[in-house]
Amino acid sequence: MSKKRNGNGLSVPSEALRDSVPPSVLELRALRERALGGAAPDRIEAQKSKGKLLARERIDHLLDDGTFQESGLFVKTSCHDFDLQQASALGDGVVTGFGKIDGRTVAVFAQDFTVLGGSLGFAHSRKIARLMDEAIRSRAPIIGLLDSGGARIQEGVDSLDGYAAIFQANVKASGVVPQLSVILGPCAGGAVYSPALTDFVFMVDGLSQMFITGPQVVKATLGQEVDLETLGGAKVHSGRSGVCHFLAASEQDCLRQVRELLACLPSNRWQRPPMWPTTDGPERPSPFFQEVCALDGRKPYDIHDGIRELADDGGFLEVHKGWAKNLVAGFIRLGGHTVGVVANNPAHLAGALDIEASEKAARFVRFLDNFNIPVLTLVDVPGYWPGLEQEHGGIIRRGAKLLYAYAEATVPKVTVVLRKAFGGAYIAMGSKLMGADFNLALPSAEIGVMGASGAVEILFGKQIKTAADPEGQRRRLMAEYVQRFASPYQAAASGSVDEVVEPKALRSTVIRCLEVLRDKRRPGEDGARGNLPL
Ligand code: HXC
Repeated sequence: MSKKRNGNGLSVPSEALRDSVPPSVLELRALRERALGGAAPDRIEAQKSKGKLLARERIDHLLDDGTFQESGLFVKTSCHDFDLQQASALGDGVVTGFGKIDGRTVAVFAQDFTVLGGSLGFAHSRKIARLMDEAIRSRAPIIGLLDSGGARIQEGVDSLDGYAAIFQANVKASGVVPQLSVILGPCAGGAVYSPALTDFVFMVDGLSQMFITGPQVVKATLGQEVDLETLGGAKVHSGRSGVCHFLAASEQDCLRQVRELLACLPSNRWQRPPMWPTTDGPERPSPFFQEVCALDGRKPYDIHDGIRELADDGGFLEVHKGWAKNLVAGFIRLGGHTVGVVANNPAHLAGALDIEASEKAARFVRFLDNFNIPVLTLVDVPGYWPGLEQEHGGIIRRGAKLLYAYAEATVPKVTVVLRKAFGGAYIAMGSKLMGADFNLALPSAEIGVMGASGAVEILFGKQIKTAADPEGQRRRLMAEYVQRFASPYQAAASGSVDEVVEPKALRSTVIRCLEVLRDKRRPGEDGARGNLPL
């Protein structure tokens, strides 16, 4: 082997040596090729035939080009039972690493269904839990792409311990970095509880399912025949259970939605969300709210139109779109800054608060508070939805979560009473004494313990019954009540409302209020709070 010497007397490889590939590098290349190739061709074919992407294809779709730095490519299961050494593959059925989205670092893991059904064994779980620990240290959001049959049956208690380690890591990361779970296939047994501990769950219609016990167990224990979609399909979880926050039409659409959400969020609890400059000036008038002022108090309208009108460039990323539609929640930008909106929607259940709406709003407010995102609350609420179903379902216990979330939140909070704001629901929807920094009202606001007809009945029921003209008497008393309470001015006189705003100036006023609050000091700023699954 001929070697030259450089000026420092050190040997340098000859050109021939430089061009040859050493055996160790060849071995690495072969191993990498095997690992990147994944499972046997028939498994890959089976995955594709279901219209599903492979784990690495998913990561490619999600991340900025060429930014993925993988770790754990050569990890193997140490279990020798059931021929697992043969059945598993290098990487043990999960791809883990860091990459970038819009130039910002994220941690990502993608389960590979082609390897033992994406099931979670001990080595697989260690890869995920380690990635999560590294993400906490690097202060980067964690994105899980899940496609798994749950705990790997062959590894027994080691798989269960693996889930326990992941749940621990989920809770450690909670409120520190955003955690997003993207369900891209079945997600069974223990696999569903890690997503439930994260901040947002995404599902794809017709492709994703989540369930604790599968159809066979349901049949064996209850004798019920149920298919996967009916048990835990994307429509069920986005429309009925509220487990899923974002429903997508395809995997590509789903991964695009993940990127869109991340663009609204800070990378961690020490940061603010990125600023997105806009040419949409704050002074743009908001005619929608002028129309609301002119509406009959009982006439429904869709608050989505109002939210879009307030937002920069009409952009609105809605969370839990198909669930608890009487309350709308999501992200907008105002003056280029991310703001979380919570709004009653008179188009559903007259905008009344019920159990699901309270839980939806509570968890959202808690998330906003964790990640330095101001809360804008738009109030048009006739009260709590009455009845046995609500009372027996625990509206007292579950509705209290919303009170807790608003009272606890220390991020900037701006509330606008648009129309009705009655009773406990007025208090619950971010009222002044629940900690709103600015409590604004439109001239159409009606704030009181209850609406005119209920109040008159309770206060003057006997008097009305015995009057010569009961209906005339009722009308007179109602008119008096409306005169006194069906305006924002009693609340403005007591200081419960800070300012009554011209409807057309609503956007500019809210932007100004948020500007004032931008550097608001937050008590307990240094202590992280987890985003417990309320
Ligand atoms: C080991 C598994 C597995 C598992 C699937 N596979 N789930 N291997 N452990 N949990 C394997 C299958 O044996 C099969 O291997 C391959 O993955 C593909 O699975 P199929 O059944 O052929 O696919 P499909 O028809 O698409 O059905 C997917 C499925 C089904 C719905 C996920 O596999 C299923 O019901 N799996 C079990 C789900 C479950 O009950 N999990 C709970 C585990 S207990 P071959 O070699 O035959 O192709 C649990 C508790 C943890 O998670 C609690 C923590 C708190």
